[in-house]
Amino acid sequence: MANSYIPLQMKVQRIEAEDPDRTLRTYDLTFVNESEKEAFKYLPGQFCEISILGKGESPFGIASSPTEPDYLRFTVNRTGSVTSDIHYLRNGDIVGMRGPLGNWYPVDDMKGMNVLIVGGGFAFTTLRSLLIYLLDSRDDYKDITVIYGARNPDLFIYKDEIAIWKQRDDIQFHLTIDKPVDGWNEKTGFVPTVTQEVAPSPEDTLAIVCGPPVMIKYTLPVLTELGFPDERIFTSLERRMKCGIGKCGRCNIGSKYICIDGPVFSMAELKNIPEAF
Ligand SMILES: Cc1cc2nc3c(=O)[nH]c(=O)nc-3n(C[C@H](O)[C@H](O)[C@H](O)COP(=O)(O)OP(=O)(O)OC[C@H]3O[C@@H](n4cnc5c(N)ncnc54)[C@H](O)[C@@H]3O)c2cc1C
Ligand code: FES
Repeated sequence: MANSYIPLQMKVQRIEAEDPDRTLRTYDLTFVNESEKEAFKYLPGQFCEISILGKGESPFGIASSPTEPDYLRFTVNRTGSVTSDIHYLRNGDIVGMRGPLGNWYPVDDMKGMNVLIVGGGFAFTTLRSLLIYLLDSRDDYKDITVIYGARNPDLFIYKDEIAIWKQRDDIQFHLTIDKPVDGWNEKTGFVPTVTQEVAPSPEDTLAIVCGPPVMIKYTLPVLTELGFPDERIFTSLERRMKCGIGKCGRCNIGSKYICIDGPVFSMAELKNIPEAF
C-alpha cells in the first residue's frame, strides 16, 4: 500500500485568477506519473494536501469532478504562508499532493432525489465538483437548485461557468450578494435569507451546504425550519489540519476527526458535536 505521508508529484497545467485582486486563483494540476493518475479515485467533497517543497502543506477541497479525468482543480485563497507560496507558482512547476482525503457528499443517496446546493464565497470549490458530477449524469437526479452567495460580484469564483449554468433550463441557479451595487440584477441579501425565499420543498430533497462558518451556522436552522429532516442536510466543516489522515489529532472536535470522519457531516451527526461551530 502507498505511504500516505509521501506526496505525489503534480504539474501546474493552468492558472486562472478568479478576482480582480488576484487573491483567489484556480490551479489545474496534472499527474507527473501516469500510473498514479489511474489509481487516483475520488468523489465530490474530498480534499487533498498540497505541498510546496521546503515551505509547507495545506488542505484544499477538490474543485474538479471525477468526471473530468484530465486534471485536478483547486482554488486557493491567499491567506498566509503556504497559500502565498502556491500563488507564486507558474505553469510547469511541480507541487506535492496527498489525497484524496476525507469523506464525500452522499452522491449515491442523491439518485432519484431533488438536490439543493447552498454555497458561499470561495468554498464553492467542492460544490462545483458536485454540480459538474450531477450534471454529467443529469437524468439520475430530479430538480437541482443552487443558491450561491458572495460579499460582492467580484468574489464569485468560476464566473464563466456560472454564466453557462444560469442559461440552462434544467437547473435553478440563484446568485446573491450581501449589499446592492450598481448594475447587479440578481438577488441581494445573505444566503440564509435567500434560502428561505427560494429553497424547494423539502420533500424528496437532499440539501448540501458549504461556505464560511457563519453562513453555515445561520443556513442550517433555516433548512430545519423549512422542514428538511436532519438526515437530509449535509455540510462540510473546516478546521486547521496537519496530517489529514487521523494521526496527529489537530482537527479533532468532540469525538470526531474532521479529516477522516468528515469533512462532510449530516445535521444529524452535527447535533452530537456541539463544538462544530
Ligand atoms: C478540508 C479543508 C478544505 C479546504 N479547502 C480550501 C480551498 O478549497 N481553498 C482555500 O483557499 N482554502 C481551503 N481551506 C483552507 C486552507 O487550508 C487554509 O487557508 C490554509 O491552510 C492556510 O495556510 P497558510 O499557510 O497560507 O496560512 P497560515 O499562514 O497558516 O495562516 C494564515 C491565516 O489563515 C488562517 N487559517 C489557516 N488555516 C485555516 C483553516 N483551515 N481554516 C480557517 N482559517 C485558517 C490562520 O488562522 C491565519 O489567520 C481548506 C481547509 C480545510 C481543512
Ligand atoms: S489533521 Fe491530523 S488528525 Fe486530522
